[in-house]
Amino acid sequence: MRSPILVFTLGLISLSFFGWIVFPELLYSSRSQPIDFNHRIHARIADQGCESCHGFRPDGRFTGIPGIETCRHCHREVVKTGADEKRLIHDYIEKKVNIPWHVYARQPDSVFFSHAAHVQSAKLACETCHGEIGQSTTSKVYEENRLTGYSRDIWGRTLFAANGMRMDDCADCHQKMKHEGTSVQTGKEGCFVCHK
Ligand code: HEC
Ligand code: HEC
Ligand code: HEC
Ligand code: HEC
Ligand code: HEC
Repeated sequence: MRSPILVFTLGLISLSFFGWIVFPELLYSSRSQPIDFNHRIHARIADQGCESCHGFRPDGRFTGIPGIETCRHCHREVVKTGADEKRLIHDYIEKKVNIPWHVYARQPDSVFFSHAAHVQSAKLACETCHGEIGQSTTSKVYEENRLTGYSRDIWGRTLFAANGMRMDDCADCHQKMKHEGTSVQTGKEGCFVCHK
């Protein structure tokens, strides 16, 4: 016996399934990082922690992801047996080729973002925006939105996002900070604060 309610419910379930599970899978393409990088180990052994690799130049610019020169300080020859360290040395360090890392938080070219303003002036911890990447033991998969070409971390995670990097996430924090009396001058009116 078919009740219309049952048919409706099944339809709703399959629609939700398509909308929340199948569609996102079709919408994003996944890529592994070229080398699997263990943050937890490296943050512990590097003498200045995160700053050994992600610091600020004297002019205030953020160094971003370190080049192979930094890796070469410690990885001149293979000490472990893992395939990743072998590739690091043979494919990149010996050939003097930088590793083409995918940046999860990469913004569109039209967005202006300064680490100095957030880390040095506002004293925000890296985890506030990036989550626990600094404590991870393996590089997470990079997912790219097939339509926009942007990382899923900035274009997509609306439903279950922990650490979003979307326009709303930026604006929400600015709004909150403004109420707490900081110098942030943003809000719906100030498009050119964040856009070039
Ligand atoms: C301060 C020294 C130091 C620097 C700088 C450094 N590493 Fe390492 N790395 C190590 C040590 C020590 C290990 C072995 C850790 C262990 O498993 O006990 C290691 C292990 C690795 C491994 C192998 C992990 C495994 O389990 O097989 C990879 C891959 C790696 N590093 C990549 C990099 C890359 C990429 C850079 C540059 C961005 C870098 N390292 C910079 C010290 C360093
Ligand atoms: C030995 C060098 C090294 C150290 C020390 C290090 N990192 Fe990294 N970091 C890297 C490399 C290489 C990448 C690119 C690979 C990746 O994303 O896993 C990276 C990527 C990142 C990213 C990803 C940014 C994005 O959006 O793609 C974050 C966040 C980050 N590091 C935070 C930290 C924090 C926090 C610490 C200290 C707890 C730290 N790192 C210590 C080398 C280092
Ligand atoms: C207020 C949010 C915020 C904070 C706090 C923050 N970041 Fe970022 N980070 C971003 C954004 C946004 C980007 C992408 C910037 C872009 O594409 O222009 C980024 C990019 C990066 C990258 C990749 C840089 C590149 O250009 O290749 C690394 C590495 C990184 N952050 C590490 C860190 C570390 C380490 C800290 C703490 C010292 C930190 N971030 C604090 C938001 C933040
Ligand atoms: C967790 C809170 C927080 C988040 C998230 C955040 N910001 Fe901010 N932002 C601040 C604070 C606080 C300041 C003021 C810093 C200061 O006092 O100079 C600021 C300042 C700025 C400024 C002005 C910098 C200057 O030179 O005066 C820009 C531009 C900006 N943020 C862009 C962004 C963008 C783009 C994002 C998202 C990718 C973002 N912010 C996410 C807290 C945040
Ligand atoms: C607090 C920072 C901030 C403010 C203020 C802001 N934006 Fe954005 N905007 C972003 C970030 C970060 C992105 C990229 C992530 C995303 O699309 O959510 C973005 C993306 C966009 C995009 C898509 C860009 C592309 O290349 O795909 C448009 C269009 C846009 N913003 C328009 C505006 C307009 C219009 C205003 C003023 C009403 C404004 N934004 C104010 C941070 C901001």
